[in-house]
Amino acid sequence: MFYVASNAIVLMWHSYRDWLTGMDVTFALNGSPVTLHDVSPTTTLLDWLREERGLTGTKEGCNEGDCGACTVMITDENSSRSLNGCILFLPQVNGKQITTVEGLSAPDGSLHPAQQAMIDHHGSQCGFCTPGFVVSMATSHLNGATDHDTELAGNLCRCTGYAPIIRAAKDTARQPVPAHLLSLAKNTATPQVPKVVDLQSGTVQPTTKNELADWYADHPDATLIAGATDVGLWVTKQHRTLGPVAFLNRCTDLRGITETATDFRIGAMTTLTEVEQILAPHFPSLGAMLRRYGSLQVRNAATLGGNIANGSPIGDSPPALIALGATLHLRRGDKRRSLPLEEFFIAYGKQDRAPGEFVEAITVPKQVDTLRCYKLSKRFDQDISAVCGCLSITREDDTIKTARLAFGGMAGTPKRAGKTEAALIGQPFNEATMRDAMKAMMEDFQPLTDVRASAAYRMQAAQNMLLRYLHDAQGTATDLLAVMP
Ligand SMILES: Cc1cc2nc3c(=O)[nH]c(=O)nc-3n(C[C@H](O)[C@H](O)[C@H](O)COP(=O)(O)OP(=O)(O)OC[C@H]3O[C@@H](n4cnc5c(N)ncnc54)[C@H](O)[C@@H]3O)c2cc1C
Ligand code: FES
Ligand code: FES
Repeated sequence: MFYVASNAIVLMWHSYRDWLTGMDVTFALNGSPVTLHDVSPTTTLLDWLREERGLTGTKEGCNEGDCGACTVMITDENSSRSLNGCILFLPQVNGKQITTVEGLSAPDGSLHPAQQAMIDHHGSQCGFCTPGFVVSMATSHLNGATDHDTELAGNLCRCTGYAPIIRAAKDTARQPVPAHLLSLAKNTATPQVPKVVDLQSGTVQPTTKNELADWYADHPDATLIAGATDVGLWVTKQHRTLGPVAFLNRCTDLRGITETATDFRIGAMTTLTEVEQILAPHFPSLGAMLRRYGSLQVRNAATLGGNIANGSPIGDSPPALIALGATLHLRRGDKRRSLPLEEFFIAYGKQDRAPGEFVEAITVPKQVDTLRCYKLSKRFDQDISAVCGCLSITREDDTIKTARLAFGGMAGTPKRAGKTEAALIGQPFNEATMRDAMKAMMEDFQPLTDVRASAAYRMQAAQNMLLRYLHDAQGTATDLLAVMP
């Protein structure tokens, strides 16, 4: 009896361990090649750097993507970008170049301009946040990005204050990029990466969406990992053990935006940074909202597919996409289907997605831009919305012709305000109509009270967005950045 039980335990341990191991990962770390065998797929880059490699310059602050103390620079054929190492699993850096704070100084030991500027401008006191800031600054410097408030919004400092840090960033921007980092950016050839489709271990990293579709149809209970800005926290904060997982980051045909005469087709693996770059010129208000989505590090990782598939009632992209009339494209094996995005969200925690089905793409129709996105959160930067309202109203001779209004934070799902829309259509575009529609909104939503906002605040704020839309359309600046000097 004891023999049978102990054998069962050994067997269970082996199958449990097999779910967690079996991958080889290859990357370049501060210019030197590294190959790891049998890594646990949910080891974070931060833990590996600090615990296995002794590179303790990269700090652990929040371990949930909020503070930027763990910022690393990742380079591949797409770009050099800052990412949070604490919610980046090792398989996500397969084939990439990693630069940590230890890799910023030149081979002769001279400091990177960002490091020198932080000293010159007294940008550091306790120093805990400093490596993260310096890596963010070095990445912006390499990319020629000079909107320092945006570039550094994902790095928190609790003792120095931001003025000296911003002065240091401005000073850095005036210096040339060090030669060793320029050659890193040019040398984007990825190291030879072993193909990982290991059915035995339960961890796969398909390289095409066809491979993913076949595998996921056979493993419908598996967890898909896109940018890991949600899934990362399941591991670091909730200490969940994931069963079989598929990393989507090497499915290059799931990533990118194709523009046709009628629409933009956005692959599920397109990051929020890429969405912002392509869609902001067409829909500036969406661009302004995405600039406040998490931080640069979060947007560089988070994907549009993940932001929809997670079904969050407070995700920022669904209300905007619904207001734009977006269509969601799902796939299971060889079968594909499409539906209006709003129909995907059935109830809190419930989406219209069958086991083994994944988000393949989203299409956004081209249109005359009438979209306004209003994100309300307690902090301007790096905060989750209490209410996110996205409104698109078209007019003919000052009579409202169409209205698509979608809200996050007002129900268990991102949701259209059908009664409010009906109260607008066919009416004159003026304050009286807006006030009538504000009353109709009471029938659309029964919001909740939680830590972010009370139900009454949510309703009042969402109703006021109609007036804000009117003022916006009449040319009054209502955006915080526009009204602040
Ligand atoms: C610090 C921080 C700040 C944040 N700020 C914001 C914010 O301001 N606004 C906001 O909306 N969100 C925010 N988020 C939440 C998060 O960034 C988003 O939900 C993100 O878009 C998820 O995308 P991902 O690629 O990281 O998904 P992952 O974490 O990889 O996956 C999320 C879920 O989607 C599933 N999934 C992923 N891709 C697919 C696919 N193609 N098909 C089917 N299922 C899939 C996964 O299995 C998982 O269930 C923040 C997160 C962090 C950590
Ligand atoms: S430790 Fe705070 S963002 Fe990673
Ligand atoms: S210097 Fe102490 S947190 Fe920034």
